[in-house]
Amino acid sequence: MLCLGIESTAHTFGVGIVALKKGKCVVLANEKDLFRTEKGGFIPAEVAKHHVEVCDVILKRALEKANVNMRDIDLISYSQSPGIGTTLEVGCNVAKSIALIFRKPLVGVNHCIAHLEIGRALCKAKDPVLLYASGANTQVIAYEGKKYRIFGETLDGGIGNYLDKFAREIGLGFPGGPKIEQLALQGKKFISLPYSVKGMDVSFGGIFTNLKQKYDTKKFTTEDLCFSLQETVFAMLIEVAERAMAHTGKKELLLGGGVACNKRLQEMATLMCKERGAKAYWPEQQFLVDNGAMIAWLGILSFKAGNRLEIKDADTNPYLRTDQIIVNWR
Ligand code: ATP
Ligand code: FE2
Repeated sequence: MLCLGIESTAHTFGVGIVALKKGKCVVLANEKDLFRTEKGGFIPAEVAKHHVEVCDVILKRALEKANVNMRDIDLISYSQSPGIGTTLEVGCNVAKSIALIFRKPLVGVNHCIAHLEIGRALCKAKDPVLLYASGANTQVIAYEGKKYRIFGETLDGGIGNYLDKFAREIGLGFPGGPKIEQLALQGKKFISLPYSVKGMDVSFGGIFTNLKQKYDTKKFTTEDLCFSLQETVFAMLIEVAERAMAHTGKKELLLGGGVACNKRLQEMATLMCKERGAKAYWPEQQFLVDNGAMIAWLGILSFKAGNRLEIKDADTNPYLRTDQIIVNWR
């Protein structure tokens, strides 16, 4: 079975083509294009316009890369939730058009769960706790009783957006995460920042306000601030992830989301897991960031479990939460 998956929840427009071969996930193509700005935040209408402009090129590139044509595709999958309304609509409309023109079955999937399922398939983790740390999302998710439950999450924004905002404010450009990571490597001194874990949840707003104030005093080096920032916020994420592992008794931690590309976060995850006799996993970078392959793979799982959408019912849901989906494929 061959599935074409379309990702468009945020600034990435991606098309992935995935095959189910002998029960395994084989990625044939994973093409994408990112909307970028040098300064300022994203304007949803502009991101949507970008996705409209690149969709045909990315689609064509994915088919070429996989060396297949539309007739070979058995299923179309798209990211239905959660995300930015305008950009979700573009992906949904592209998916509906293809399904209609080429008479293919259609499924809509949840983006957060797609991060977890692609990691599970590619890393061979059986039943992990997912630490999902990306631009807009920060959640700790694990399977229990037919649902992916949220054990902890951010009380304000996603960690990546805060990293990007701070980086922009101090002139590092976008995306900020990788630049902060590089500077942090040169950091020598740990500067105490607010540590904000509330029960199973985390919050970042106060930390970043405090960080910017410290930066403005010019008493600290940018390197030390970046180093201390990473040590603080990643410790918070790892603490909440560990608590979810202790609570559920699970022995695997899976990382997902763009921020999980960070080597220091990966190292902290490995250390924590080692200390509790567990194992940390993360897929290669192209599957950590937003991508179409994960949407295609979850499409296959969902379709095989009997889920499908009529074109007239194919919609988007920007606010649907991970734990509202019935997981009937596990
Ligand atoms: P979402 O998945 O929530 O819809 P998104 O489109 O921002 O949002 P991703 O592509 O998964 O998601 O992640 C992008 C984020 O990852 C950006 O905030 C970026 O700064 C961050 N990031 C990328 N690489 C690193 C890194 N090495 N260290 C820290 N952060 C990183
Ligand atoms: Fe994501």
